[in-house]
Amino acid sequence: MKLRSIELALPDPAAAATFMTEIWGMAPAETKAGANGDRLYLRGSGPFPYLVAFEKSEDEFVRSTTFVCTAEELEALKARIAASGWAASPTVSKDPGGGHGLLVELPEGTILRFLTDAAEVAPIAGRDLPVKLTHVVFNAADAEACGAAVEDVLGFRVSDRTKGMVFVRCSDSHHSTAFARAGFASLNHVAFEMEDMDAVMRGIGRLRDHALVPAWGPGRHGPGANVYAYFIAPFGPVIEFSTAVEKVPEDYKVGAPDDWTWPAGRIDHWGMSDKDFEGLRRAEERFRFRRDWEAGPL
Ligand SMILES: [Fe+2]
Repeated sequence: MKLRSIELALPDPAAAATFMTEIWGMAPAETKAGANGDRLYLRGSGPFPYLVAFEKSEDEFVRSTTFVCTAEELEALKARIAASGWAASPTVSKDPGGGHGLLVELPEGTILRFLTDAAEVAPIAGRDLPVKLTHVVFNAADAEACGAAVEDVLGFRVSDRTKGMVFVRCSDSHHSTAFARAGFASLNHVAFEMEDMDAVMRGIGRLRDHALVPAWGPGRHGPGANVYAYFIAPFGPVIEFSTAVEKVPEDYKVGAPDDWTWPAGRIDHWGMSDKDFEGLRRAEERFRFRRDWEAGPL
């Protein structure tokens, strides 16, 4: 199971795509006609046909977060989701790469899509391109319940719990998603995997050239041990340059909040940056979830 892409709806997809290609460092993939005008797709250097899709809408919302999996994994998911009673629907992807599978709405409204037979593309060179998405994190009213639900129904595994988050993996990467203990459900942030720490630092420089400073970072996290720099994108959401997230074994010992404490005044390993708590929280509240499909039998 791999995290592949996020599909966002927002008022000005062209402006968002321009920022992501000209400043953040993505490559344009395709443009396709959609129900609400063009859908703009952006890719990284890796084999996924796109990582981010933008579609026009009056409101900002997350259409879906997409994972790709094998036919066997999809069959197993289908059985467990059908038994769970969650809103779900079979789906055929019209996005680049195609594929077919399931759309599912988690108990707090988070919408995930699982595809199999989704095509990959030849990687492209570009040292400032993200390789892929490394995690998409959601805010939750009850992060513990969300973590338990995706373990039970989706077969994901909780890797760590901290005071703020429940980190969840779907592969050997420490986390591909997480649920933040926010008190409400929304998109928390989208993290792009950069080739190495230099690529993260060059990214910070590139944004600084455009008068954008990190809302948090650079730093190195506790759980997952990844290097990070978070920004509030001009088009709304929190986006992150990240690299070197820890790979974990099958029998990784699940950490508890007391395993992840910091000395006074610290919230990461390096302690070299401030965090704009208020600005981040405002940005994290903007993109909610909206189901624009009918639930039906799987
Ligand atoms: Fe992150």
